[in-house]
Amino acid sequence: MSWAIIGGTGLHQLPGLEVVEERHPETPWGRASRPLQRGRLNGETVWFLQRHGSPAAVPPHRINYRANIAALQAVGATHIVGVNAVGGLHIDLLPGTLVVPDQLVDYTWGREHTFDEGADGHLLHIDFTEPYDAGLREALLAAARRAELDCRAAGVHAIPQGPRLETAAEVRRLRRDGGDVVGMTGMPEAALAREAGLAYASLCMVVNAAAGLGDAPLTLAAMRETLEANAGRVRVLLANLLAAAAPG
Ligand code: HPA
Repeated sequence: MSWAIIGGTGLHQLPGLEVVEERHPETPWGRASRPLQRGRLNGETVWFLQRHGSPAAVPPHRINYRANIAALQAVGATHIVGVNAVGGLHIDLLPGTLVVPDQLVDYTWGREHTFDEGADGHLLHIDFTEPYDAGLREALLAAARRAELDCRAAGVHAIPQGPRLETAAEVRRLRRDGGDVVGMTGMPEAALAREAGLAYASLCMVVNAAAGLGDAPLTLAAMRETLEANAGRVRVLLANLLAAAAPG
């Protein structure tokens, strides 16, 4: 197995990653948001990709998710953890809370969301009943337990188009739809990984109370600050994940 981490807002670099190689493969869908970095995290080999690119920030609806997944596949990654900054849809999901979602609802539109171009007469109807890899989710949760980090063991990841944040009424709808956390980058990344046959799970970090639920104004600066303040916990969790035996 070969690990990859896709970092999001506030995770421009994987803290503690010693980079040993960079690759930027050309794929049928173009190149990834940024050269892929292969490095060692606490002695374990891992590929790292910032999905928004860096230093230029590609917004969620303009990310070339196909190139990102295809590039990770091209370098041999088999297990991908996507780290997502999210809003909490319940007041007890305080900033800094970690969630390993078990379900998602996709509200995105207009993104290149499939590798299936219908070109070769081969239909790609993936089974997406369980959108995240069960073994990888379990491995993330086991890593959190070993590291003694609080982490919600399930949740519904609601994925709107953005890039604007939600209205208060939209947040009420996401809650009625069963959503627990809301973030803009979880799809089509998860579905593309499944299409490519790669194990994929999401690790969400709550960085704000969703619109209308908290008192503080919603600013990107405050969200980044929360993520940066908690990046160390994400690093410890991921280092524990990589150090453990291969998930089943
Ligand atoms: N809504 C959507 N995306 C987000 C949020 C939010 O409240 N916080 C971080 N990403």
